[in-house]
Amino acid sequence: MSDNKNHISNGGVAANSTVPRHIALIMDGNGRWANARGLPRTAGHKAGVEATRRVVRSSAELGVKYLTLFAFSSENWRRPEAEVRELMRLLRIYLRSETADLHKDDVRLRVIGDRMMLAEDTRQLIDQAEILTAANTGLQLTIALNYGGRDELAFAAQGMIKDYHEKGYVPDIEEVESRFKSFLMTKDLPDPDLLIRTSGERRISNFLLWQCAYSEFVFSDVLWPDFDKTDLEQAIQEFSGRDRRFGNAICQQRLTKS
Ligand code: FPP
Repeated sequence: MSDNKNHISNGGVAANSTVPRHIALIMDGNGRWANARGLPRTAGHKAGVEATRRVVRSSAELGVKYLTLFAFSSENWRRPEAEVRELMRLLRIYLRSETADLHKDDVRLRVIGDRMMLAEDTRQLIDQAEILTAANTGLQLTIALNYGGRDELAFAAQGMIKDYHEKGYVPDIEEVESRFKSFLMTKDLPDPDLLIRTSGERRISNFLLWQCAYSEFVFSDVLWPDFDKTDLEQAIQEFSGRDRRFGNAICQQRLTKS
């Protein structure tokens, strides 16, 4: 078995398909889902939380090892104050209501992003969830909150500059590239094999810019609140048919040797 694919036979995923080890997800379309029903945008976010619950469970069932969700970007603060307040409220509800179940299901929960801008009670809930689930070895769930890819790269560059300032030398470019990952917020996670974005938008929107260098992208037209296990299986099926080269012409060899 290769290190980034996990061959399984499961439900709607074909028997010979490969499940990505790490899926990153841009959950988009909550607002349009609500608009289409004549509801306030916040109703779309509420339904989005239900979709999040479903997809976390489905990912674990399908054998995905790492799932990273873009829940709140560093740009999302620019949304109307009431919408931001509701998103933060839903996040607290999710953490309060889900943490025990996630723990029971052996899920490890981590948060990336600059949490210092979050409210004290939200930070406490995150800390408690991270501590409670720290030793879990099932699905490794990461939620990106107040996260921006460029911010992360800037933090990493600053951390590296400080480190070399203390060491007292300027590293060569190979050393910078090989050590850079260890300064990222995702230093303990493998790079995503598959990035899924819902709602028909085809952008990366400042998510995991370094980490997605060789990820396969699947764009689903389904709005996030409607996204379910079948849609996840379809995305996995599409991923499974891709020929991953990692900039190489001989990717299959590389995959089977690693
Ligand atoms: C994008 O839809 C979605 C968000 C900005 C927030 C995503 C958050 C959730 C799914 C719920 C909270 C998550 C957790 C983990 C509790 P949009 O509002 O940009 O939709 P639009 O593009 O149709 O306007």
